[in-house]
Amino acid sequence: MINVAILGYGTVGSGVYKIIKENNSHISRRAGDDISVKYVLDLRDFPGDPVEEVLVHDVNVIMEDEEVDIVVEVMGGVEPAYTFVRRALESGKSVCTSNKELVAAHGAELLEIARENNVNFFFEASVGGGIPIIRPLIECITVDHIEEIQGIMNGTTNYILTKMEDEGADFDTVLKVAQDKGYAERNPEADIEGYDACRKIAILTSLAYEKQVNYEDIYTEGITKITTDDFKYMKKLGTSIKLLGIARKVLGITYSMVAPFVVYPDNPLYGVKKVFNAILVKGDMLGDVMFYGKGAGSLPTASAVVSDVVDAVKRNGYTASIYWNKEKRILGGADAFTTPYFVRVKGVNIKDKIQAAFGDVEYIELDDKLAETETAFMTKVLSGSEFDQAASDFEVISRIRVSK
Ligand code: HSE
Repeated sequence: MINVAILGYGTVGSGVYKIIKENNSHISRRAGDDISVKYVLDLRDFPGDPVEEVLVHDVNVIMEDEEVDIVVEVMGGVEPAYTFVRRALESGKSVCTSNKELVAAHGAELLEIARENNVNFFFEASVGGGIPIIRPLIECITVDHIEEIQGIMNGTTNYILTKMEDEGADFDTVLKVAQDKGYAERNPEADIEGYDACRKIAILTSLAYEKQVNYEDIYTEGITKITTDDFKYMKKLGTSIKLLGIARKVLGITYSMVAPFVVYPDNPLYGVKKVFNAILVKGDMLGDVMFYGKGAGSLPTASAVVSDVVDAVKRNGYTASIYWNKEKRILGGADAFTTPYFVRVKGVNIKDKIQAAFGDVEYIELDDKLAETETAFMTKVLSGSEFDQAASDFEVISRIRVSK
């Protein structure tokens, strides 16, 4: 018998409890042992909910019970999750978590503590919710050098951008609809400013390139400056705008970034709409491989957490090799990140000036009154600092990087 304790009975925790109950015989058969939830920790009471039978309010009950084999941490936030997870690992309990803040901040350190205690620290659900991406990265794509990862890793912003694109609605209106439907939080900052995607690409960059990437070092730009006018140009070009997390290695330098990107139809991320997430991995031998599915929600996220529980049971006493060491990865800056740019500048009849500053560009002519006051174009590939220098003599209305 394997006893599981769930820390947190919120959206994900209640999903984990439900899945372990409802799919119990299937999960137990796959794990090779009977799996049962012995405790659920939450500060709240849930009168009338069957969880009452196993509900506890004191974490010590769980940590001091030697019969608890696996702790599922689905509380979110760094503290007290970090303290609880550390203590569980040090007590010889494996931990499975969906907590991206915790993993991004302390992943390498918690993996080391797990190794020292012959247990496992798994975090499949911390990136892409229900989409398997961590396990494929650490167990399947082991042969390739990863050239680049591009991910749509935030459902809220993808929903907002899709609505702006399909319905021509402006950002504020769509954000309000997203909040009313429960897709966006009342305080949407973490999503729309890109902070949520930043934690996720920090985890993937650390795993792909094996050293600790501090999320504070990642250049992060949200979607609040994207307008319906930008989408008029996208319609003309047949392109889309997506908030991408990008990790790449070029000439030995690792880059990691979150920003809106223009995406062309030949990129498989182009068709990823609404709340769906997708992560495109480019290996030097494998080529492109994409993982697509639901990046949030109770049952999809809980499904990934329980798959970690099954894996932890199967590895009893044997720690998985996850290459992510504590040494800090120094990232290349946004000034050195190279990409073409979509640019809108104020003024018309300024092609000579644009040519002098940016070199050859491709103009985008709109049949719209915008064409009376502004000029839009696509640049060649430029570094961030080359772009800033070229743009310095212009009044830039918007500039969006272009995914290659
Ligand atoms: N707020 C996140 C999203 C939830 O919109 O994708 C999953 O981390």
